[in-house]
Amino acid sequence: MTTVLLLAHPDFVASRANRALLAGLRDLPKLEVAELYALYPDGKIDAAVERERLLRADRLVLQFPLQWYSTPPLLKYWQDAVLTPLFYMEPDIAAATAGLPILAATTTGGPSASYQPSGMTIDELFAPLKATARKCSWLWQAPLAVHDVRNLDDAALSRAGEDYKSVVLSAPMLQR
Ligand SMILES: Cc1cc2nc3c(=O)[nH]c(=O)nc-3n(C[C@H](O)[C@H](O)[C@H](O)COP(=O)(O)O)c2cc1C
Repeated sequence: MTTVLLLAHPDFVASRANRALLAGLRDLPKLEVAELYALYPDGKIDAAVERERLLRADRLVLQFPLQWYSTPPLLKYWQDAVLTPLFYMEPDIAAATAGLPILAATTTGGPSASYQPSGMTIDELFAPLKATARKCSWLWQAPLAVHDVRNLDDAALSRAGEDYKSVVLSAPMLQR
């Protein structure tokens, strides 16, 4: 059972929080990490490669730093490049992914107070991802967000990585 993780960080070399989250998953069985910005530095996603990766996923995780309340652009482009031809031109093949659990995991510079119901929650901000999941007949999981990451020390980030692992492990797998 394969967990496919699409990591979309435009500057992963300089990352602290997303690195710590990923480190938390190091012992996760059958984890396939695709670091999109490293794989496609020119921004041109290989749709055939990524489509095969998606088709072998039993659980899909999208991990990214929140940027302007949204995903970094290459993750949006992944939807355009991979999901559009698959779901609009080959629906019979796309149907194999029906029921795929999808978890969005993000880090924010802003504190958790900025993402409470008085403003816009992470759940509300992720409405387009949730709608995509719905369109694809995937199983949307409650998103995970680690806030105020610049003010978290290494120990706190390490704990966030452990929590992340628990959340990923508790997400179901696709029943084929
Ligand atoms: C272009 C850009 C846009 C950002 N937009 C937001 C934002 O909308 N909300 C927020 O809380 N943090 C925002 N941030 C802060 C990042 O989310 C934060 O730096 C990142 O989660 C840190 O993770 P890292 O240590 O893995 O790089 C932004 C950062 C950049 C560079």
